[in-house]
Amino acid sequence: MARERRRRVPEGPRPHDRGPRGAAARRGRSGQGAAAAVLGVACVVAAAAAWGLWRARGGLAVTPHPAARLLPANGSSAAAAPGLFWGSYRPHVYLGMKTRSPRAPVTGLMWLLPSEGEAPPPPLRHTCEQSDRLAGYGWLRHDGLTFGLQEIRDRGLRLRTEFVKRPGGLHGGDWSWRVTARPERSAGPPPAFISLLFYVATDGQGILRPLVVEKNRLASLTGTTEELGDFTITFLQPTSEAGTGPLYASYNYLHARAEGLHRLSDVVKASLSPRFVYAPPGGPKRRYAGVDTYQGPPDGRERQSQLVVHQVTVALPCRLEMAFESGSVSDRAERLVGEVLTQELASHVAAFDQRFEEAFGLARKGFSAQEQDFAKAAFSNMLGGMGYFYGRSLVQSPHSELPQPYPEGPLFTAVPSRSFFPRGFLWDEGFHQLLLSRWDPALSCEVLAHWFDLMNAEGWIPREQILGEEARTKVPAEFVVQHSSAGNPPTFFLLLQQLLAQGAVDAPYLRSLFPRLQSWYDWYNRTQAGPVPYTFRWHGRDQDTQMFLNPKTLTSGLDDYPRASHPSPEERHLDLRCWMALASDVMAQVAVHLGEPAGDYQHMAKLLADNQLLEQHHWAKALSTFADYGNHTQAVALEWEKPRPPSPGQPLPPPRLLRVVRKPPRLQFVGGALGYVSLFPLLLQLLRPDSPHLGTLLADMRSEKQLWTPFGLRSLSRSSPLYLKYNTEHDPPYWRGAIWININYLAVRALHHYGRQEGPFRQEAASLYQELRANLVGNVFQQYQESGYLWEQYHDGTGKGQGSHPFTGWSALVVLMMSEKY
Ligand SMILES: *[C@@H]1O[C@H](CO)[C@@H](O)[C@H](O)[C@H]1NC(C)=O
Ligand SMILES: *[C@@H]1O[C@H](CO)[C@@H](O)[C@H](O)[C@H]1NC(C)=O
Ligand SMILES: *[C@@H]1O[C@H](CO)[C@@H](O)[C@H](O)[C@H]1NC(C)=O
Repeated sequence: MARERRRRVPEGPRPHDRGPRGAAARRGRSGQGAAAAVLGVACVVAAAAAWGLWRARGGLAVTPHPAARLLPANGSSAAAAPGLFWGSYRPHVYLGMKTRSPRAPVTGLMWLLPSEGEAPPPPLRHTCEQSDRLAGYGWLRHDGLTFGLQEIRDRGLRLRTEFVKRPGGLHGGDWSWRVTARPERSAGPPPAFISLLFYVATDGQGILRPLVVEKNRLASLTGTTEELGDFTITFLQPTSEAGTGPLYASYNYLHARAEGLHRLSDVVKASLSPRFVYAPPGGPKRRYAGVDTYQGPPDGRERQSQLVVHQVTVALPCRLEMAFESGSVSDRAERLVGEVLTQELASHVAAFDQRFEEAFGLARKGFSAQEQDFAKAAFSNMLGGMGYFYGRSLVQSPHSELPQPYPEGPLFTAVPSRSFFPRGFLWDEGFHQLLLSRWDPALSCEVLAHWFDLMNAEGWIPREQILGEEARTKVPAEFVVQHSSAGNPPTFFLLLQQLLAQGAVDAPYLRSLFPRLQSWYDWYNRTQAGPVPYTFRWHGRDQDTQMFLNPKTLTSGLDDYPRASHPSPEERHLDLRCWMALASDVMAQVAVHLGEPAGDYQHMAKLLADNQLLEQHHWAKALSTFADYGNHTQAVALEWEKPRPPSPGQPLPPPRLLRVVRKPPRLQFVGGALGYVSLFPLLLQLLRPDSPHLGTLLADMRSEKQLWTPFGLRSLSRSSPLYLKYNTEHDPPYWRGAIWININYLAVRALHHYGRQEGPFRQEAASLYQELRANLVGNVFQQYQESGYLWEQYHDGTGKGQGSHPFTGWSALVVLMMSEKY
């Protein structure tokens, strides 16, 4: 994906990608008075010089968009939005909460699971890591507002984590956690005991005052921070699953200073000592690792965190609770623990189940209880995986030498994957919100507003949002920089199209969005223009024609999907053209809705929807499909270079795998690339229902030699010479065969559409719709049952999930396919 996911290649500014042309394209005026004209010219020249200088430093790239922001400065505060203030907004940890504020205090859970015959300490579980090889984890129920229920399976352990919030006071109210640990049946010998580590940490502001009682047991802590005022957190002693007890436990406790929230795991690991003994009455004595001491950083260096850890070492099964109570709640009836918590949890689960059925109707449609649970898990982990980030991007403009810091700001967004991509990605988010807006359209509007408030003065929105230290630790330094000339599919137009159809956006919201929307549209129309009018080109492709079998197009979101073999300004990209057709149509709708001039957008929408023009620019008669156009040859291959010594007698350099071109490229339609890109006129429903090409695309979809599999549509035809091909020695195929759920969602949605339009292919589309939908839902469900996860992509030969996981980003769109909401 344009997220430069597994295989990242930094994009550089290129000579013919000189960014926006606006300033340079000023027209002269025929002056009336000569003097005025001279003066005017002088002013224009001076202004242009200053402008040019500033631009030369890349100033615009890091200047916020001039339109009024959509979200008020304190819009996320406890005063303005108390219900959303606290949340599980730390998707990258197995369990964590924070507030929607810039320097939020955080709470979290870690655990140590000793295994027989292994010297302590066991591996620390904290941040979601694929290398932890958990059998599964994720929110099974989460309403995005008041409660969540998660299950985690780790080597014979089943951890259930639950939270409930309760409104009240002026600071976002109270909440409680319950963590239940039990041995997993059928998973070998049960673990003898477990250490659960609950922590609270500040982020550069605020104070924590722990209250420790006998034998290192942290009973509670009080604290004060900017946003929370005073609060108390109480740690209850462990009980049985039914709440009886307390159970025997050993306690450890740590109060330390850390170099920031991103260092919490390191601090805890460094503080662990294996000298402690767990000795339940009548049971064997066992050594375990407990938090002990930590030598913090010297004063006054970087932003510091105060960290308090409460470690409980206890036998399974057990239940632990922790209650956060806000100092400004004055009329608290009963504490939210024990039986009260049990009841609240039960009523939230019941309310969730009812609302889920109202929104998606899966029981009505006859899905089994297991299938419904799967859909709830897919949906809940997307919603419960939403994050609140605060920080700045690092942006490279084509006009500046070095990357520059972007203005600081917040981002409230869903994430593709809690383990591998726990941060915002532009084109993913458009897909995420297609699902979430069916649950809570107001939430989607707020997310959209957050993204649009991150727009710069050029109308560009950074496509990968790495905001704050915690987010940054997940990304290698060389990939942090965002390029202000790089686009990404504008999927937010899909969301707007849906919100408009739902009647879910009000006029004041649309009105405040409109100036930014116009700039965004204009950014694409201007900077991604193609060589001929009404064609488009993804700028910023890899330029190296020697290293790569096919130079990548990260900005398109489809990374290594085959394009013209030799990148050039002559290229026209079919998918981008179709995205622009959608964008123009939605812009026209919004403008009409607001009574703003819509003519230009309507004109553009009409031209881009014109099937004749589409054919002229993209129908490759000889290939009998829609295609990109560019400087292309299919006769390329990777071959081992025969190394020669740099000078006689010196050792041979290591051999390199290089591309050889057997037949020179020429301008033509891009052959050998039938796949998702070819389908775009259908996917975005630009083809007229009576277009003969609709029949061709349907046939390509249904052909097993091309795109059809029993598990969904593969990304690239089996007949393509690049099918499943590595792009370099170490760069495995990504969008070259695997099944991706976002594009399959578009396909199912389009087939649903064409199955209802009068035309020669109506029947065929309708039956393909049924088949494709059943294949996708069936496989994603089955893989979840077998592996415990939703996956980034699925293998086109076996249906097996592959790539990062859990991937409850756009793969969770399977819920919309089940409920047939398009
Ligand atoms: C936002 O809240 C902070 C802290 O409560 C306050 O100091 C600031 O004045 C508020 N800003 C606005 C724009 O309301
Ligand atoms: C998009 O760009 C083209 C070419 O520059 C221009 O003619 C057209 O008016 C633009 N469309 C809109 C809606 O701005
Ligand atoms: C196509 O690529 C070749 C090889 O780089 C180059 O020599 C040729 O000029 C290119 N043709 C066009 C039309 O860009």
